[in-house]
Amino acid sequence: MKSRAGTLAAPFPYFGGKSLACAEVWAALGDPVNYVEPFSGSAAMLLGRPTEGHIETINDADGFVANFWRAISLDADAVAKHADWPVNEADLYARHSWLVRQSQTLIERLLADPDYYDSKIAGWWCWGLCSWIGDGWCSSVNHKLPSLGDAGRGIPRQIPSLSASAGINRQIPGLCNSRSQFIREWFEKLQDRLRNVRVTCGDWSRVLNESVTTRHGLTGVFLDPPYTKGNMDYAVGGVGGTLADVVRAWCVENGNNPLLRIVLCGHAGEHDELLSHGWHLRKWKAHKGYALSDEAVANTASETLWCSPHCIPERKIQESLFDFETEAA
Ligand SMILES: C[S@@+](CC[C@H](N)C(=O)[O-])C[C@H]1O[C@@H](n2cnc3c(N)ncnc32)[C@H](O)[C@@H]1O
Repeated sequence: MKSRAGTLAAPFPYFGGKSLACAEVWAALGDPVNYVEPFSGSAAMLLGRPTEGHIETINDADGFVANFWRAISLDADAVAKHADWPVNEADLYARHSWLVRQSQTLIERLLADPDYYDSKIAGWWCWGLCSWIGDGWCSSVNHKLPSLGDAGRGIPRQIPSLSASAGINRQIPGLCNSRSQFIREWFEKLQDRLRNVRVTCGDWSRVLNESVTTRHGLTGVFLDPPYTKGNMDYAVGGVGGTLADVVRAWCVENGNNPLLRIVLCGHAGEHDELLSHGWHLRKWKAHKGYALSDEAVANTASETLWCSPHCIPERKIQESLFDFETEAA
């Protein structure tokens, strides 16, 4: 349940997840009093924060994400119970089909009733992410199927991930009880970590106004929209599109605010327009993961972070290390 950096890990792999970028991102953001993550997905960046923040807000437009965190807050044990299930292809297919049909009304139910959550949807969604290969889990492409009456028609079928390491499906020695306890403890830790975090479910732009950001003081913003290149298929936002361009335009407009430290993710070159506005670059290395084509492997190798002018520059960290070493000598 720990990431490589020793912080709490997300309990499921997420396509485009940024757990391996945490060290670079937090080096650039420092320890701001306020933190906002408008495209949170697995919340890997929040969970990878070296210290717990004063005010923290995560958002995603996907109802499955919002339901997962609400269910974890209100009944982590029940979510753990539903997530605890062997990897089984027939179950993966059947549960995927069932979940896709829930998605039509899930957001409506979440927004209509502050007490509403569904621990079965949360647990199965998490279990499926750990068993599914690549993107497309509960995706919007599937949501748009014209007929969902006959369970599963048109829902893509694939062999489950048989690698032993994904999230809650990793190899745990011992009996069923050991795995159940492992999952339960992990979810309880997530429940504790998320206790003071505000979770919103909607469009990214809603959490970037002044009342959510700079009114609270120095604010770190981590922006990880679906990339323009690479055909990632998320449950919301679908495949490709121009969202990343709109996000970059917001960055151009707001990057010079001294109360904002902004980090934007993309592939090499994607947001280089920002360099002429005083932004600087940092690199990080993603897992090759399920990248099979040459293009996908190249995209993985070119993961880039654009850091706004008021982020902590890499130079500064090296200088302070140098000062420390000189003093110590
Ligand atoms: C690249 S993923 C984020 C991954 C995340 N940083 C992580 O480490 O798991 C992009 C996310 O943006 C969400 N998304 C797509 N369109 C959105 C929108 N208009 N507003 C908010 N979130 C959106 C998707 O549901 C997806 O979770």
